[in-house]
Amino acid sequence: MSADRPLIAIVVGSGRRERFADYPLEWLREQLADRDDLELSVIDLRDYALPFYDEDVPPAKAPREYHGNAELQRLARAVDAAEGFIVISPEYNHGYPALLKNALDHLFVEFNRKPVAFVGYGNVGGARSIEQLRLVTIELEMAPSRFSVNIFPHSMSRARAGEHPGQVFAEYTAKLQLAVDDLVWWSRALTTARTRAGDGDAS
Ligand SMILES: Cc1cc2nc3c(=O)[nH]c(=O)nc-3n(C[C@H](O)[C@H](O)[C@H](O)COP(=O)(O)O)c2cc1C
Repeated sequence: MSADRPLIAIVVGSGRRERFADYPLEWLREQLADRDDLELSVIDLRDYALPFYDEDVPPAKAPREYHGNAELQRLARAVDAAEGFIVISPEYNHGYPALLKNALDHLFVEFNRKPVAFVGYGNVGGARSIEQLRLVTIELEMAPSRFSVNIFPHSMSRARAGEHPGQVFAEYTAKLQLAVDDLVWWSRALTTARTRAGDGDAS
């Protein structure tokens, strides 16, 4: 982790066993593997057995109080370490999944002053869930990017039919590059700013 080569975490926002999210996840991993201006991690929310939110005091008022919840602590460590995020999100009833909201609600300072970009999919490319995520991440004191990747149903069908994600999503590569270039810019800038301000360990 460094301002030069920020650690970008891909957050997988669907936990369904047969989720579509795995296709864009594979594509992102392939596309970003060779970039020498970032490091990559994956925060797969399916791997964190969080309870449905049931804390007495909101995380913004009780920072880093995990009440012995080892799963939450593990998630907090992964989020703390990241300097920028790419959230992969489906659209459920024109919003984003409860799994993702539950994870976002459990933390606060761990997300603060870090940038986030979005990869959405669905009938309108996940645009409605991404717009909601932009509002919610502002409340987490994040810097949501105007750039996003919107994957439409014709690509979803091809990926589900077994075509390689790199081939199926090739039409979105330019959009992804814009989003990631911007994310790296903001990650570097905000890591430097957090370090100067003495925010925690500035991760
Ligand atoms: C509860 C539910 C609601 C959905 N609502 C929408 C919707 O509002 N807009 C949309 O484009 N797709 C909607 N879909 C279809 C999803 O785009 C599709 O199931 C997709 O595969 C979900 O992502 P996932 O498989 O990664 O969980 C919905 C699916 C579910 C399960």
